Amino acid sequence: MPFEVGKDNLKNAVEAARTLGFDGFNVTMPHKTTILEMVDRLDEGAEKIGSVNTVARTKSGLVGYNTDGEGAVRALRSYGFEPINRRIVILGAGGAARSLVHRFSRENNSVRILNRTLGKARELADNTTGPGKISYGELTKNSLENCLHETDLLVNATPIRTSSLVSQLKIPINRLKDTTWVFDLSYDEPSAPLPPGRGTISPLEMLVHQAALSYEIWLNQTGPYALMRSSLVAYLGKDWK
Ligand SMILES: NC(=O)c1ccc[n+]([C@@H]2O[C@H](COP(=O)([O-])OP(=O)(O)OC[C@H]3O[C@@H](n4cnc5c(N)ncnc54)[C@H](OP(=O)(O)O)[C@@H]3O)[C@@H](O)[C@H]2O)c1
Repeated sequence: MPFEVGKDNLKNAVEAARTLGFDGFNVTMPHKTTILEMVDRLDEGAEKIGSVNTVARTKSGLVGYNTDGEGAVRALRSYGFEPINRRIVILGAGGAARSLVHRFSRENNSVRILNRTLGKARELADNTTGPGKISYGELTKNSLENCLHETDLLVNATPIRTSSLVSQLKIPINRLKDTTWVFDLSYDEPSAPLPPGRGTISPLEMLVHQAALSYEIWLNQTGPYALMRSSLVAYLGKDWK
């Protein structure tokens, strides 16, 4: 069941979920960081990332988890892309970007974070551990154009679709030909077609995987991924692959 909860009402909503005995719930924008203080315990991954998208009720209270990073990796794998020994550029340094940067840095990937607010990119890079090589910069026309030709995967973790973002930065859309894969996380608005010749990973594939992972946490059994995916396809009236 979806509930629209305003910023000022999150605490009340969490208390209501406790009172009503919810076994679990998902949290999305803009609550993923505010909720950190409202749960009783954080899973190690969520604590590192500093963002929660899944809450589960346990005997010792509400526990916060984050399934975005693993959901993204499962989505990538479903397209035949294994994020190991890859050159990855991530646009954005918000909650979703943090989940992916932490997940990618667990392997020997080279991850470059480009964000509109440089300080946030720096903070994310400084707080990421693991064998991955992390660098950061401000998101500008030059910084993005300069790294595209040596990028295996461009992840756009901003709410703006890649076609609009490159246009805002005055980068010709054809420059995206230089990267092998493009992965928009946002699914709120349709994307203008990207130039042919590269793979595009659908944000909806990640949406289903991160949801199936939440199900696994709540029920301690494999999530019904195929059923969840086909329900979304039926709801949309079309597949995305
Ligand atoms: N497919 C999925 O399953 C899935 C899962 C999680 C999230 N998402 C999507 O991912 C997107 C990001 O979510 P989030 O939770 O990370 O949001 P967030 O915490 O608000 O972070 C947004 C990031 O985008 C940047 N940004 C915002 N507007 C921008 C603009 N006009 N130009 C350049 N950069 C801009 C922000 O930069 P500043 O730091 O400078 O403000 C920030 O780094 C959302 O659209 C969300 O729906 C999808």
